[in-house]
Amino acid sequence: MRVVLTGATGFIGSRVLARLLAEPGVTGVTCLTRRPPPVRSDKLTVVTMGDFTHYEDALLDRLADHRACVWALGGKEQDAKDPVAYERLTHTFTLAFARALVPRLTGEFTFCYVSGAGATPAESARLPVRQATRLLKGRTERDLIDVAREHEGFVPYAFRPGGVLPERAGPAGRLLLAPFAVGVRQLATALVRVACGDVPPPPRVVRTADIRRLAR
Ligand SMILES: NC(=O)c1ccc[n+]([C@@H]2O[C@H](COP(=O)([O-])OP(=O)(O)OC[C@H]3O[C@@H](n4cnc5c(N)ncnc54)[C@H](OP(=O)(O)O)[C@@H]3O)[C@@H](O)[C@H]2O)c1
Repeated sequence: MRVVLTGATGFIGSRVLARLLAEPGVTGVTCLTRRPPPVRSDKLTVVTMGDFTHYEDALLDRLADHRACVWALGGKEQDAKDPVAYERLTHTFTLAFARALVPRLTGEFTFCYVSGAGATPAESARLPVRQATRLLKGRTERDLIDVAREHEGFVPYAFRPGGVLPERAGPAGRLLLAPFAVGVRQLATALVRVACGDVPPPPRVVRTADIRRLAR
C-alpha cells in the first residue's frame, strides 16, 4: 500500500517516516513537505509544497491510489508568528488536504491525525493552559469527522498523546512525563500500525493508553 506523510522533517514525523519505510507492506511513501527529509529510499517520493492550502489536480490524481495518511505537520502555539498563523498551521492545512483529497478516493482511506491530549472543540474548555492548541486541535478533529460523514471511506483517527518523549529522554523527563507521555517510537509504531490496518481498528480518539497498547 501507499501512504501519504506530512511533517516528515519533524520530531514525530521523522520517526513515522523511518517506520513506514521499514514496513514490508508499504510499497510507497509520499511526503508532502516544504523541505526534503534527509532520507533516501526507492519507496520515497518527496513533493515540495509552497502552499499547504492548495492541491493541484495532478498531485491529487497521484494520491488517489494511496490508502492512508499520517498527518504529523504542526507546531507549538508559542512558536507561531501570531494566532492566525497558528490556526492556519493547525486547522486550515489539515482540512484543506482532507477536503481536496476525498472526492478522488475510490476505496477506504485511513487518516491518522496527530492531535494532542485535552483537544476539545468546546469553547468552554475548563483548563486555560494551551487553550488555543486544545481548541484548534479539537476543531480540527471535529471537522475531520464532518468530512467523514460526507465521504464514506474516509476514516479519521485523532491520536492524543499526553506528551511525546524522545528516544533518549533523561530521567527527569521520564519521571515528570511518564504517567501521561509515550515514547516517540511507540507513537510512530502505533500510527503506522493503524494507518496500515495491521491492528484491529482502535477507538477514533486514540489516547495515551491506546497508543501504548497498539505499540506493544
Ligand atoms: N512533540 C510533542 O510532545 C507533541 C505532543 C502532542 C502532540 N504533538 C503534535 O504533533 C505534531 C508534530 O509535532 P512535532 O513535535 O513532531 O513538531 P516538529 O518537530 O516541530 O515538526 C513539525 C513538522 O511540521 C512542519 N511544519 C511546521 N510548520 C509548517 C508550515 N508552516 N508549513 C509546512 N510545514 C510546517 C515542519 O516542517 P519544517 O521541518 O519544514 O519546519 C515539521 O515537519 C504537532 O501538531 C504537535 O502539536 C506533539
